[in-house]
Amino acid sequence: MNELSFRPMLEGDVDAVLKIEFSAFSHPWTKGIFLDCVRSGYECWVLFRGAQQVGHGVLSAAGDESHLLNLTIKPENQHQGLGLKMLEHLMARAKSLHAETAFLEVRASNGPATRLYERFGFNEIGRRRNYYPAVGGREDALIMAYSLLD
Ligand SMILES: CC(C)(COP(=O)(O)OP(=O)(O)OC[C@H]1O[C@@H](n2cnc3c(N)ncnc32)[C@H](O)[C@@H]1OP(=O)(O)O)[C@@H](O)C(=O)NCCC(=O)NCCS
Repeated sequence: MNELSFRPMLEGDVDAVLKIEFSAFSHPWTKGIFLDCVRSGYECWVLFRGAQQVGHGVLSAAGDESHLLNLTIKPENQHQGLGLKMLEHLMARAKSLHAETAFLEVRASNGPATRLYERFGFNEIGRRRNYYPAVGGREDALIMAYSLLD
């Protein structure tokens, strides 16, 4: 059973989500942030391969804008196309909620994520200088956008 499946994140999923989050990020989200997102009705999703939880993603959508807030694949399961699958799923959700543009912010040093977003069709539209805390200082955020209109 290696089929991929997506399901909405429930509060009871958050501990397992945090394990993946902490293994994948130098500056992970906290439990409180995930719980706030689930309770606020954001689009919070978990990805399974068979019975194994392999990633998660969070999107907010309001009016004609949506914001990709989190996209994480378990390190052992990266480089298998799962990040792209999760991104496709979240963008389909944004479209079905009638968003016209998706935005995201990504660390300038995050090559794997930036390449994934560019490959999908996101374009860099700006940069926030020294936006993120980083080891030994701060680093820029790239702001990227993707049109959801056909
Ligand atoms: C960014 C992230 C979500 C990408 O997830 P992923 O599942 O590795 O993404 P994909 O597998 O779709 O693509 C990643 C690479 O694997 C390659 N790949 C995809 N399928 C592959 C396969 N079957 N065999 C070999 N390589 C493959 C892709 O071409 C891509 O290569 P590139 O980085 O050289 O362009 C993941 O690295 C991650 O969770 N990082 C930590 C958290 C993070 O930074 N999130 C984004 C914050 S904005």
